[in-house]
Amino acid sequence: MDITQLKRIFSERFGQDCSVYTSPGRINLIGEHTDYNGGFVFPGAIDKGIYAAIRLNGTDRVRAYSIDKEDYCEFGMNEEDNPHLHWANYLFGLCREILKRGYQLEGFDTVFYGNVPIGAGMSSSAALESTYTFALNEMLHLGIDKFELARIGQATEHHYVGVKCGIMDQFASLFGKAGHLMRLNCATMEFEYFPFNPKGYKLVLLDTVVKHELASSAYNRRRESCENACAHIAKHHPEVKYLSDATMAMLNEVDVEIPAEDYMRAEYVIGEKQRVLDVCDALEEGDYETVGDRMYGTHYGMSKLYEVSCEELDFLNDLAKQCGVTGSRVMGGGFGGCTINLVKEDLYDAFIATAKEKFAARFGHEPKVYDVVISDGARKLSC
Ligand code: GLA
Repeated sequence: MDITQLKRIFSERFGQDCSVYTSPGRINLIGEHTDYNGGFVFPGAIDKGIYAAIRLNGTDRVRAYSIDKEDYCEFGMNEEDNPHLHWANYLFGLCREILKRGYQLEGFDTVFYGNVPIGAGMSSSAALESTYTFALNEMLHLGIDKFELARIGQATEHHYVGVKCGIMDQFASLFGKAGHLMRLNCATMEFEYFPFNPKGYKLVLLDTVVKHELASSAYNRRRESCENACAHIAKHHPEVKYLSDATMAMLNEVDVEIPAEDYMRAEYVIGEKQRVLDVCDALEEGDYETVGDRMYGTHYGMSKLYEVSCEELDFLNDLAKQCGVTGSRVMGGGFGGCTINLVKEDLYDAFIATAKEKFAARFGHEPKVYDVVISDGARKLSC
């Protein structure tokens, strides 16, 4: 599928010309499950995204065709018009969230496809949301800033998809910049672009192609644990607004008040905050060995304390270590998906070959391999 075919399918279906918008998926170097805890994240947009042909249709209805699902859906934009169809819920939800904020919307026709692997932890859903919030904002001259567009995507997840996600994915998809990672403080929404071009190293994703059932309810439970730990700490330390504001000493004070599971989750989040800060310092010095070491630290925490890894991801992480890969860890929400690996160029080929061979021998299929290309965020394509 490419843009020419996308436009052709649009005009066959709707008989009109269209505009084309795209928004990408993302990687995250470090800072996982920190966004909804008011911490730092370190994402970058990638060269894989959602591509949408779109045109206002002069009605108050949305007519949408998903090329990948080979499925068509038409719906109005009132709450009772909810199509209750998984992929269409995203479109319906973001229309509702735009309307709830008092903006005027018009109906539109659209056809879309994506090349962000679904369920791989690269945030195909944020790419979908950001493509449409960005397009509608521009086409209807709504004047919504990109931070608010990100919040609209996030609220769509919360209210129409059922995932109580943080802001990282939508932010990265909208603000991405080629060749740059972004360090975002999720408590204040202040961010900086960091040029990222580690000489002699490559970033590569290994996709287990595993997606565990109930990942979203497990994700929501992690968030509840963090909020519970934070509420207990805040009783003693009112200055603590988010769990990322807390220290291990503070957490230890409430050890007996909270379930052991919540303690473990909070221990991970507090550790992750320090790892992100360490990585920032190390990047400034060009010290990729420390960056890699903290990535392994994150994997350990996500596996043993936050418990969002799985056998396949742990296997790939161990393998990376054995192959001398500089840094490796589960990326994104977890429960399947990818590891992100920082690997020296001269080790790359041997690592990929070993990972494919050993993973296939153990699990019956090879992991998929994606080289990371850090790319631009949401935009209209001139075509
Ligand atoms: C998912 C969520 C994000 C973030 C990550 C984990 O991608 O959508 O908000 O919480 O998991 O860092």
